[in-house]
Amino acid sequence: MSQDEQALLVVRGLQVKLPTGRNRLVHAVRNVDLTVRAGERVGIVGESGSGKSVTVRAISGLLPDSPLVQVHGSIQFRGQELNGADARIWRDIRAKRIGMIFQDPHSFLNPTMRIGAQINEALKMGRGEQTSKDELLRVIALAGLPDPERMAQRFPFELSGGMRQRVLIAIALAKSSEIIIADEPTTALDATVQRRVLKSLDDSVTALGTSLLLITHDLAVVAGLCDRIYVMYGGEVVETGSTEKIFSAPEHPYTKELLRCVQSLADDTPDLYVSDYSSKQNAQ
Ligand SMILES: Nc1ncnc2c1ncn2[C@@H]1O[C@H](COP(=O)(O)OP(=O)(O)O)[C@@H](O)[C@H]1O
Ligand SMILES: [Mg+2]
Repeated sequence: MSQDEQALLVVRGLQVKLPTGRNRLVHAVRNVDLTVRAGERVGIVGESGSGKSVTVRAISGLLPDSPLVQVHGSIQFRGQELNGADARIWRDIRAKRIGMIFQDPHSFLNPTMRIGAQINEALKMGRGEQTSKDELLRVIALAGLPDPERMAQRFPFELSGGMRQRVLIAIALAKSSEIIIADEPTTALDATVQRRVLKSLDDSVTALGTSLLLITHDLAVVAGLCDRIYVMYGGEVVETGSTEKIFSAPEHPYTKELLRCVQSLADDTPDLYVSDYSSKQNAQ
């Protein structure tokens, strides 16, 4: 239990069943165990449909609000059981303690509010006190957004996809989130922008010592950013270990398959993915 004691997030035996058409249920997540410790960076990788998003939606209380949705198992945040907690508790956790960066930033930004005002609300949420303009500009800059003074005055629709993702990073930082959950934060972006946003995320998490749960179908993306990896396949965690172990001694056939894809991509485009792993490999 000693490892779990320092854990921020402990998920045990998570099962999620979701209704599909014609009175059927899809068993989207099966018996998932997952732990994120304070300050740790954890990746979940797996192909499309493997249950990554459903897992993190369960962890953040964002599954469809329907009596047909079944969630079994335990989701503990700093020892507090959240499975079955009422909506008010979930809202509070999301508002103050979990920073969320999802593929579609629109659903998390208010289209009619200036960026600065939205980040300022998050600052107030995190600190519960008066906020200063300096603090606001500092958070905007920390998230990798250029020209913070002007940025604060802009509306979401005036920004590119990569910029909007960085606004979500700024909001997560402003709340002093204990964990940032990022679900495919850069999948919709082109490779150069993807790299910049990941760098902003990396710098921000490092600066604040926040935990990170990063979800992606791309093993190369987690390689440079995460300490530990969970590999999901068909709704289950099929393998877990340190990033180093997953790369150097993968056990599950599906993990090996994922690694082959990373290698061939890296061979084709040597500077597309900048990860510690591939640079170490190349140096050897
Ligand atoms: N809102 C939903 N309603 C019904 N089924 C869903 C819903 N969201 C996801 N699913 C199903 O759950 C499974 C896992 O999906 P998901 O977690 O989104 O995969 P991933 O994020 O790994 O691509 C898939 O079979 C998907 O079709
Ligand atoms: Mg997904």
